[in-house]
Amino acid sequence: MSFPLIKDTPRSSSNPLRIAVFVSGNGSNLQALIDEAKTPYCAYKICLVLSNEEHAFALTRAKTAGILSEVICHRDFVERHDYEEKLVEICGKYQIEVVILAGFMRVLGKTFLKAFSNRVINLHPALCPAFPGLHAVTQALKKRVWFTGCTVHLVNEGVDTGPILAQSIVPVLDGDDEASLSNRIQQEEHRLLPKLVQELALGNVIQDSFGTPSVKRAHF
Ligand code: GRF
Repeated sequence: MSFPLIKDTPRSSSNPLRIAVFVSGNGSNLQALIDEAKTPYCAYKICLVLSNEEHAFALTRAKTAGILSEVICHRDFVERHDYEEKLVEICGKYQIEVVILAGFMRVLGKTFLKAFSNRVINLHPALCPAFPGLHAVTQALKKRVWFTGCTVHLVNEGVDTGPILAQSIVPVLDGDDEASLSNRIQQEEHRLLPKLVQELALGNVIQDSFGTPSVKRAHF
């Protein structure tokens, strides 16, 4: 027996899944989600872009696309709990169903994850469980792996440890440095993330009776 991860799916362009994208910087993955959202059969809608950094270029991307944004800076809060409560409140205001962390440089804890249980998705530039945390591309180069890639996963309380939803492999080439390898990984991220969010909205990400999520590899 299995169930869609997100209730009331499948969605469609006329009844889209309401997502928020959390960002801290450039927002190239946000851009990929924006571009996909313009296609006719897209079943999700970006209802909010939230940044913890007021100068993030991602905010300019949101504005250009006509998407509402909010800046909630973690430095304005003494307690992490209060910061996360604020994030929950803002998401409630925009009736957000799923949160996508796309280059959001904060770790979310209990308070937020309880409110959005199984509904927070992260993108990591490595093949999890390899190279969690910061500087994943440098870690891969240092280890001299032949292949790395990117992972879309559900967020739990660990760092890049949640259930894996989708992955894409990127070969490490002779002469690669951090810039060249990051660049090729990002190209894969831009393909993988919008596809995964679309599959989520279509109800193709399912969980078994133990709650373990999965999505058919054939969809990718
Ligand atoms: C991505 O490479 C993602 O894997 C990591 O942060 C980066 C964000 O890039 N979590 P961008 O802001 O989407 O360009």
